[in-house]
Amino acid sequence: MISEALLHRLVTAASRAPSADNMQAWSFAAAGDVVDVYVEPGRVLPTDVDAMFAWVGLGAAVENLVIAAEDEGFGVTVDDGGLGDGTSGDREPVRVRLSPGGSGSGSRSGHPLAGWIERRETNRGPYDETPLDPTTLGELTEAVGRFDAGVHWIGGSADLGLMASMDARSSYIRLEHRPLHDELFDILRFSRRSVEETGFGLDFASLGVPPALVGAARLLRYPSVMKVVSHLGIGRFVARQLAAKLCAAGAVCLVTARRAGPAGYVEAGRAMERLWLAATARELAVQPYGVLPQYLTKLDVEPEGFLPRYAEVMRGHREPFAGLFPGARDEHPAIVLRVGRPREQPPRRSVRLPVDQLIRSGREPLLTSRPAIAAIRHRGAGGWRTGRVSSQDAGGRRAASAVATVWTAIKRASQAVPRANEAATSEGQCTARNTRVPPAASAPARARSPIVVRRSWDQTRGER
Ligand SMILES: Cc1cc2nc3c(=O)[nH]c(=O)nc-3n(C[C@H](O)[C@H](O)[C@H](O)COP(=O)(O)O)c2cc1C
Repeated sequence: MISEALLHRLVTAASRAPSADNMQAWSFAAAGDVVDVYVEPGRVLPTDVDAMFAWVGLGAAVENLVIAAEDEGFGVTVDDGGLGDGTSGDREPVRVRLSPGGSGSGSRSGHPLAGWIERRETNRGPYDETPLDPTTLGELTEAVGRFDAGVHWIGGSADLGLMASMDARSSYIRLEHRPLHDELFDILRFSRRSVEETGFGLDFASLGVPPALVGAARLLRYPSVMKVVSHLGIGRFVARQLAAKLCAAGAVCLVTARRAGPAGYVEAGRAMERLWLAATARELAVQPYGVLPQYLTKLDVEPEGFLPRYAEVMRGHREPFAGLFPGARDEHPAIVLRVGRPREQPPRRSVRLPVDQLIRSGREPLLTSRPAIAAIRHRGAGGWRTGRVSSQDAGGRRAASAVATVWTAIKRASQAVPRANEAATSEGQCTARNTRVPPAASAPARARSPIVVRRSWDQTRGER
């Protein structure tokens, strides 16, 4: 029988897991010697195709729970058999059963990764560009060997440059395409107060954006500002700046699900969390990049979720992406991770919901009548639309014209500066200062860098 105090400790550890946009789409219930871990439908992002990110995050929470229980001396078995193909998946839990373990239940046996659960975090700052050595990569890969998930590494300026290019060209879709844009601004928290009031969502301060830009970023909520920003190419510019950090990495890996459906993504989430904790224990920093795996999956499952021009962009990424990770062709991309030695620590820890708000008394979801996200997904002939507040664009038009004026001035000023880096980067290599690369579709023709890290993975696992 799991006591209230034990459940509280286990859920505390589980809820320290990463989740897409910090939505924490999980809840827990104890019954006998089992902790049931549910996807909490009210916090699944409406545009999360097949709830794949909710399941990946839930997998990470399950893994933390397993490690914490083993740390307390329990034997643990995980049963995700009830999830099936996902048709009833949001109703069924992953079941974590505790039994008297090696050192006897309740007597602390210690788990080498337990102490790192609290310290793991997303680091969006710059990393050292020195490639990770094969031994470290082998150890990180080994850490996830027990899971039915794939881990595929890449490194070198050409491959990282290609990733940065594809990520930039996908991320701006999230800024520009209305349903995705509205959803993003629903979960962004611009003030400490709204972070504390809600307890979930993305704290803007944790993104490491300079405080001077917070006001400008807030304006992007208005459709008319976004339209101007999009017209002037600012969306693409911002996406390029964010993606450029992919070049500042020791290595980048793709974690895949080997099976389609919730159970496959849960397994990938468990693998991701193990790898991340093992990296944290080695003082390595990690940042997930979710947009490419999510949008490539969306393209397969519900291409009508994109406007035709965005679907075309994503179709152009299919082959280059598969070319970067040839061993993953028959697998399902779950998450991309940038890994490296950090140059800075993250500015602020991300918020978590209180544990008592995560515990169900039975099978019923906690948030059935109060969806956490205002954006409502509904499809019409033209694809997806959302009904939410930002569609009232009062105040946005004046701001839009101010943005246009300022941006035009900035552009004029920057044209006066010689573009020394332009030619050097036209081949798609990452350079220290500029990651402008040609469209991803032209990438397979480029020369590839020596893939030391990929070879080390082959040696470790004897695959491919
Ligand atoms: C499936 C998944 C996708 C994510 N995608 C991104 C991403 O695209 N960019 C990013 O900066 N962080 C991403 N994250 C990290 C989350 O934003 C982060 O885990 C969350 O805000 C909690 O912060 P923490 O990891 O520091 O505890 C992702 C996490 C998960 C589990």
